[in-house]
Amino acid sequence: VVIDFGKTVKWIPTFIDGTIVTIVLSLITVVFGSLLGLFATLMKQSRFKIFNAIAAIYTQVIRGTPLLVQLYIWLYGLPLIGISIPALSFLGNTYGSREFLTAIVALSINSGAYICELLRGGLASIDKGQMEAGRSLGLSRGQTMKAVIIPQAIRVVLPGLGNEFIMMIKESSIVSVVGIFDVMYTSNIVKAATYSIFEPLIIVALIYFFLTFTLTALIKKLETRLNVYD
Ligand code: ARG
Repeated sequence: VVIDFGKTVKWIPTFIDGTIVTIVLSLITVVFGSLLGLFATLMKQSRFKIFNAIAAIYTQVIRGTPLLVQLYIWLYGLPLIGISIPALSFLGNTYGSREFLTAIVALSINSGAYICELLRGGLASIDKGQMEAGRSLGLSRGQTMKAVIIPQAIRVVLPGLGNEFIMMIKESSIVSVVGIFDVMYTSNIVKAATYSIFEPLIIVALIYFFLTFTLTALIKKLETRLNVYD
């Protein structure tokens, strides 16, 4: 076997295009996932049993089934019963495609379930005394939440959200199987064009590693900065 990166190197712009798709997809996923996760956490804290139940079913079902299956259900299953995410052509061929937008929905809903648990852990980590202290100073539950509990919980949760971003960068590679032009998909294109298999895969692995490595370093830095206030 001769390893020759010469043919593959010409495809660097294509790899970069795919990398951007991967970053955009993961970033949007974590942003929407955070909103969904926050929503689900609030539902779990609610005194209405029905909200507790909905949120519990959501996190259980999503975390109990593979992301790939969820993606297929969103993309190929639900359209059969009339539920489909439309293409938005003004966003362009890649970002506006039905597949890309459906992937955002599937991945965000998946991520939201994991983030829900993350946020719940963050809130639970704040000592009960903090709420009591706020209350005894005359603040309402909501005010104490906003002024005392949540600012502390954010500090606990931020590194976890960073990790979720890293996770989604890697997990989003699954969208390549439905033809979304992410960095993983690039390796297929380059494989078909150059008849090399090994080299494009190594390049893709290096790109993923570069992304996660850089992000890990950033999160570490953020963590030490947040700890300064302890
Ligand atoms: N690969 C696993 C699955 O298919 C994990 C998904 C992880 N998702 C997340 N948002 N952290 O279920």
